[in-house]
Amino acid sequence: MLKIGFIGLGGMGRHQAYAFSRVRSARIVAGADPFATGRKAFAAQHPGAMLYEDHRKLLKDTNVDAVVIAVPTGHHKAVTIDALRSGRPVLVEKPAARTVAQVRRMIEQARRSRKLLMVAQCRRYDPIWGVIAAQLRKNRIGRPVLWRHVSAGRGPGGWFMDDRMGGGPLLDGAVHDHDFCNWMFGDPVSVMARGIKLNPGVTASDTVSASVQYASGDQSMFSWSWCTPGGGVHDLLGPKGSLIGGPGDLVVPKAKAGRPVFCHTDMKGRQKLLFPSSSRSMYENQARHFIECVEKGIACRSPATESVKAVAVGDAILKAAVRGGVRRVSW
Ligand SMILES: NC(=O)c1ccc[n+]([C@@H]2O[C@H](COP(=O)([O-])OP(=O)(O)OC[C@H]3O[C@@H](n4cnc5c(N)ncnc54)[C@H](O)[C@@H]3O)[C@@H](O)[C@H]2O)c1
Repeated sequence: MLKIGFIGLGGMGRHQAYAFSRVRSARIVAGADPFATGRKAFAAQHPGAMLYEDHRKLLKDTNVDAVVIAVPTGHHKAVTIDALRSGRPVLVEKPAARTVAQVRRMIEQARRSRKLLMVAQCRRYDPIWGVIAAQLRKNRIGRPVLWRHVSAGRGPGGWFMDDRMGGGPLLDGAVHDHDFCNWMFGDPVSVMARGIKLNPGVTASDTVSASVQYASGDQSMFSWSWCTPGGGVHDLLGPKGSLIGGPGDLVVPKAKAGRPVFCHTDMKGRQKLLFPSSSRSMYENQARHFIECVEKGIACRSPATESVKAVAVGDAILKAAVRGGVRRVSW
């Protein structure tokens, strides 16, 4: 039984706690947040858990074996380092941090403390995006691949749209894409990007189009905006076929009983609908994996040493978006 403390009890911290509550080998024993709203909602969901205003007090609680951190991204580094220093394995939300330098410092502390630092890159645990991974691995699309993802919506406000705290959609939202592409295609090499400012009231880039080049020859194209009513499209194109579709608000060719579906088209125009192999939530899969990594020492599927590359892509795009041109990706 792994006893878990949650630091940051906003929307995602509470969602993570719900996911862990569905895993039999986890016990939710504590939560910390400076604001009463999050603590009250968490207490209602997990009666009996200890509550703290200050995360450092939670880290002194000897009943806590491991921690899940879901504070605003700009605070990930400081809170994660405190948790690792206290000797706890950590699952920290994505993006691992706001900048590559911050993630490197976190990785260094994990090495010194000899503790797991896993990043909640939840798409690696997602049965829906698992359809994409399976099609790529079975070589049904061929290589090289061009992955295109247009995503638009109102997006969250507040700290998410503060450049130093959240980084806006190309980091906070598209980090899912960056990480998944790194996982599928290998190391990113360079990015090209341009942004336009639709909302002058925020410091983060709100609307950016970018392309990423990988050492493998694969390419991705992203256009994200958190400043519009909505819309989106998601596809992968290759010499053997294409794959269109995706979860949530993305364009889906046909939906069967409300389940997300992808459509594979081969070079002869033959189409096949593809469905996820499981309906279990990616967050629950991720929680199970974290526990197995801690308890059984299995290899982590989303360690910070991998996730730093996704932050590197997002950060390079944000720099290119402001100044234009091509930037190398380094981490
Ligand atoms: N994986 C996903 O699908 C997903 C979705 C949304 C958000 N996120 C990530 O989760 C993280 C949190 O996002 P959110 O939507 O929950 O934000 P939020 O603003 O709803 O919640 C953040 C909470 O952290 C608290 N906090 C700030 N500093 C703290 C500290 N030192 N100790 C304890 N609590 C502290 C705040 O009071 C707030 O309650 C971010 O990194 C975000 O990018 C991931």
